[in-house]
Order: sequence, then C-alpha cells, then structure tokens
Amino acid sequence: MRAGVLLECAGDPVEMIEAAGLNDLQIEVITDFPERPREEQLQLIKGMDGIMTDLRVRVDDAFLDAAGPQLKVVSNYAVGYDNIDVEAANARNVVVCNGPPPMTEPTADVAWMLLLAASRRAREGLDLARSGTWKGYHPTLLLGNRLIGSTLLVVGAGRIGSAIARRSIGWNMEVLYVANSDKPELEADPIGATRVDLESGLARADVVVLSVALTPETRGMIDEHAFARMKSSAVLVNVSRGPVVDEEAMVRALESGEISAVGLDVYEQEPIIHSGLIDCDRAFIVPHIGSATVEDRTDLTRIAADNLTAILNGRDPLFRV
Ligand code: GLV
Repeated sequence: MRAGVLLECAGDPVEMIEAAGLNDLQIEVITDFPERPREEQLQLIKGMDGIMTDLRVRVDDAFLDAAGPQLKVVSNYAVGYDNIDVEAANARNVVVCNGPPPMTEPTADVAWMLLLAASRRAREGLDLARSGTWKGYHPTLLLGNRLIGSTLLVVGAGRIGSAIARRSIGWNMEVLYVANSDKPELEADPIGATRVDLESGLARADVVVLSVALTPETRGMIDEHAFARMKSSAVLVNVSRGPVVDEEAMVRALESGEISAVGLDVYEQEPIIHSGLIDCDRAFIVPHIGSATVEDRTDLTRIAADNLTAILNGRDPLFRV
C-alpha cells in the first residue's frame, strides 16, 4: 500500500504513521506538493491508497480519478474541508477526515488577538512607535473602541465560535450568535448568549466575528448589504475562510467609514491580499495563522496520521467528515 503525505507538517508524520504498524505501507512525503503544477500533482498521486493533504490542494473529481480506484482515504490537515468535494469522494467510497480538536483554542486566540488589535488600533500604534516620528503621549492619540460591556456577534457557533464566545466573559460582553440551531451551552450562564438572525445581529453588534464553515450558503454572506447594516463604529474579524466576505465590499466599507476596523486572518484569494487592505491603517492583517502553534499543529499531524492509518487498517477514524 502507498500513503502520500502531501505537505510539510509539524512533528514527524512518518514516525506517526509508522506507529500504526501497518505491514507493507510505503510512505511518500512530498513537502512542496501544494506548490507544484496541477498536472504534476495528478501524476504524483497515481496509485496512492491514502493521502494526507491540506486546504491548498483541490480534491475534486479529477484529483480522485487521477489517484485511482484503490484510494480509500483523504485525511485533511485542517478543520475546514472546503477544498474537498466530499460528495465526489463519497461516491468513490473514499473517506474524508479532518482534525477539529487542536484547531479550536488557538483559532479562538487569534480571533481575540485580531479583535483587540483592530479595536485598539494596534497597527497604527506599531507603525507610529517604529517610525521615529512619535512625539510622546497625547490625550487623543489613537483613540480606539471600548470593549468592556460592548456587544459581540459570533457568526457560526461551532467549536471555534463557542471558544470565541467563552473568551468574552472577562470583557462582560453581551453575546449574540448566529447558528443553524440553538446552543444551550452558550445561552447558559456565564455567557448568557442570545441566538439572533444575521440581519439583526449585524445591526446590534460592536464586534462581529466570523467563524462559519465555507459552504454555498456562507460564501459572500458578508456583502455590501451586510456592511450597510453594521454600525459605523463596528469591528469585523474573520478567522473562517476569506470568501465568506466580499473583500471588495469590505474595502469600500472601510474607506467610506461604514465600519471602523477589521482584523483578518483569511482572504478571498490567498495568498493574494487586496491592496485596499494592505494599505489600510484600520485593517489588522495576519497571514492565515489561526491554529499555528507548535503544540496544536503537532497534535493535528498526529490526528491526520491516525485518521489515515485507521482507514487503511479498516478501523473507524477519529474524525470522519
Ligand atoms: C485552517 O484554516 C483549518 O481549517 O484548519
């Protein structure tokens, strides 16, 4: 059997795969796979029984056919799996796995890092501190938004959204959430959140944090119309997927003062970042590092390796999509 590790990951994936003790498993590691031309990718995966990949690689009909009918599992090195056509995989009896647990807390941390940085104008502060032109303390220098007691809207109250909401307790915030179903654990003390529809939540929130999966329903969900609903003092944070937001509309909303600031980890066409965000003082931007801690990414390698070997071994994986 052949297993392909088609990325560079934290820890030693080969050791973790070998630990499963599968007989005759040949493991190929291709660390620069996502950067290779598509044609080459399709050649490289021919004959593989199991594949570990990540969100930079499109797993669709062509990919699955190129691998061949022996392919049993695609283990995604991520919690999100919008890079995978799950229906196409299931139609070929290929199991798709992901690794939610280690992604939750670090991504919630980054959401709060962005929320704090955007609300308190950290980018402008850092630029000024480093510029050599700072003239010293001034009572009206870089006034930001007060967070204590403000209203937080979490759009997508799954694991990550719930962890983001939980962190708000220290700020004594009113928490609103948008979800497909009630979340009693969020509504209970000490969070005391209220489920709302997106329209009314956007109008009430001081801070909007996006933590939804990218699906046909959520693609472009924060558009021109959504920005028009938001307060002019509002801060938008996105730790989900870039295409959930219409980036062009976001830049216009920032430029016109329709919203006050954004904190972003993800972008519509990664690794391209809209020049209107790169140049905007009120956009605090980082390059998709939501879950990037040594510990969490190493845990993810372990889970992705375990998912892969479970299927090849005829066991149930820990996290099947
Ligand atoms: C990262 O964005 C992930 O989905 O794990």
